[in-house]
Amino acid sequence: MAERPDASLDAAVEQLRRGGLVAVPTETVYGLAALADDDAALRSIFRLKGRPADHPLILHLGDASWLDEFTVAAPPAARTLAERFWPGPLTLVLKRSARVSLLVTGGLDTVAVRVPAHPLTRDLLSRLGRPIAAPSANRFGGVSPTRPEHVRTELGDDVMVLDGGPCDVGVESTIVDLTASTPSILRPGGVSREALEAVLEVPVPVATDSAVRAPGTLASHYAPHARVVIVDRDRIATEARRRTSAGARVGVLAPRLSELELEGAESVELPEDAEAAARMLYAALRELDARGVGVILSTLPPEEGLGVAVADRLRRASAPRDGAP
Ligand code: TXA
Ligand code: MG
Repeated sequence: MAERPDASLDAAVEQLRRGGLVAVPTETVYGLAALADDDAALRSIFRLKGRPADHPLILHLGDASWLDEFTVAAPPAARTLAERFWPGPLTLVLKRSARVSLLVTGGLDTVAVRVPAHPLTRDLLSRLGRPIAAPSANRFGGVSPTRPEHVRTELGDDVMVLDGGPCDVGVESTIVDLTASTPSILRPGGVSREALEAVLEVPVPVATDSAVRAPGTLASHYAPHARVVIVDRDRIATEARRRTSAGARVGVLAPRLSELELEGAESVELPEDAEAAARMLYAALRELDARGVGVILSTLPPEEGLGVAVADRLRRASAPRDGAP
């Protein structure tokens, strides 16, 4: 934690009001924030991240009561979900109001909104009294930062970071599209499908339609420098040995490491509990990168609860890099 969070908060408010950027803590991952109505500042987010301009940003609101100002025709399901999950790791895609800059939405007539739960960023939003737009504070395509030091590694020391310690959830928010006749999940994340369905009392399928625009949900993304290869647990030791003897520096990310024979490989244990796994997933990928491995062999967790988001990120990290968006 920052020693003087109040001082940092003052500086962050000041910096944003001047048109600058601030990396802010959320319960999911750190975001790279600008005032959402400042087009020049929004442009510098895209520049700093190396992100294509047509990839929309999430609008972060201070409170659910801001919804009506920035969205139009929100269906009843939006209120129900907001009431149950905000502040928290759920993003809703709704029709945008004329107040939302097209730079935030990548030119779309819809906008992704959420109310983040981290107390520092909630204070920041209430002091600003207006929304911030913030993508994850990493270079485009890379691993999202879940600790302040990750932001500096990604974006350099010049970026102002509001230090809120490590993120509680560790994977990005779940994105739910509410603009069609039935809700669907565009990106699995910190709120599970089961929890959404329990509240809405209807099925909430994961969208498979590639026409749905949610970059970061397709092809290679969330990727460390090392190549990620998904391997069944019963093959992982053999595969690690094979690659090590071929001269590769191998990393392993899997639960219950002590049961595996992994001499010669670098390894990080992934907890079996899905929430604990989500919390440390990105730090683990960074740690293996830092140890200089060329390939990371990983198992997939059971796809229930937050395990769906963890498996999703590992799969995307393992997608071929060529032709990545
Ligand atoms: O947890 C999170 O959501 C984090 C924290 C910082 O809030 N933010 C985050 O932002 O993950 P970013 O920019 O890395 O991912 C935003 C995702 C992208 O996949 C983008 O395509 C999708 O949201 N998105 C934004 N606006 C959209 C829209 N109008 N329709 C569909 N998808 C949208
Ligand atoms: Mg991102």
